[in-house]
Amino acid sequence: MKQLKNQPKQISTIAVTSGKGGVGKTNIVANLAISLQRQGKKVLIFDADLGLSNIDILFGMAPRYNIHHLLKGERSLGEVIVKGPEGVMILPASSGIEELTSINEFERLRLLDEFDSFDEDIDVLLIDTSGGISSNVTFFCMAAQDIVVVITPEPTSLTDAYALIKLLYTRYQEREFKILVNCAGSSSEALEVFKRLHIVTERFLNIALDYLGFIPQDSAIQRAVRSQQTVVTSEPESLSAQGFKELAFKVGNNTKTRLKGSIQFFLGNLFGVANDTGI
Ligand SMILES: Nc1ncnc2c1ncn2[C@@H]1O[C@H](COP(=O)(O)OP(=O)(O)OP(=O)(O)O)[C@@H](O)[C@H]1O
Ligand SMILES: [Mg+2]
Repeated sequence: MKQLKNQPKQISTIAVTSGKGGVGKTNIVANLAISLQRQGKKVLIFDADLGLSNIDILFGMAPRYNIHHLLKGERSLGEVIVKGPEGVMILPASSGIEELTSINEFERLRLLDEFDSFDEDIDVLLIDTSGGISSNVTFFCMAAQDIVVVITPEPTSLTDAYALIKLLYTRYQEREFKILVNCAGSSSEALEVFKRLHIVTERFLNIALDYLGFIPQDSAIQRAVRSQQTVVTSEPESLSAQGFKELAFKVGNNTKTRLKGSIQFFLGNLFGVANDTGI
């Protein structure tokens, strides 16, 4: 059912991030998005990754416009958002991210207005961020309701995740993090990796992390990436595709989210963060 204008729909906004780059965020966002769609949720991916291996490449698409065109008033939101596999919506933002973080009042109002009159239903907004602790990453994490930190069994991924969590806690008092272990050899290895991070955040920051689950190390993902597909499409019976299905159930049925918000609420947060930090 379409929402009436000025009655923003309640949605979940989830930033997928990591301390270290290359741990699988883009793959996770793409596969999770399709899995959520299959479970009846309408998903919009906000591609906030400044890197080269973006969502559109994984989906084998080449969007013509991005958020730059929206901010400049050259295109409407409906023209910038593209539909990917299985109806997943994508807002290509990557090359307009720097502009988004230094948006002026006029552009801000235009963006809010565009979202206000956008009449597609959205249940989940997934934000694919760059890795690391740049201001771009923190900007999106602090605007979203949920922060999913992706880690792998590699020790550097843990130390970098710790650095990111510490930064978000000390600078913004953020205390809620969901941890997703990617490239795990088994469920017990994933839990062990999670516990290693949990022990240090608890001891040094007094933060208890949430365990969101794991995605196994799976060559099917690499094959899918090479053919510009998602693994849930190319090899739906693979272990990783099963993992994404379970993850989508967890994310889709997450009733314990903090304040539910709308896209407008998310954007309000986004600019609030920008104003606070002078990013
Ligand atoms: N579970 C997995 N099993 C095997 N290989 C994986 C898995 N997850 C990711 N990969 C591999 O890791 C590569 C990097 O993944 P991806 O681009 O999603 O990482 P990223 O965190 O988005 O990187 P960046 O920080 O550069 O944006 C993929 O091309 C894929 O080959
Ligand atoms: Mg990426």
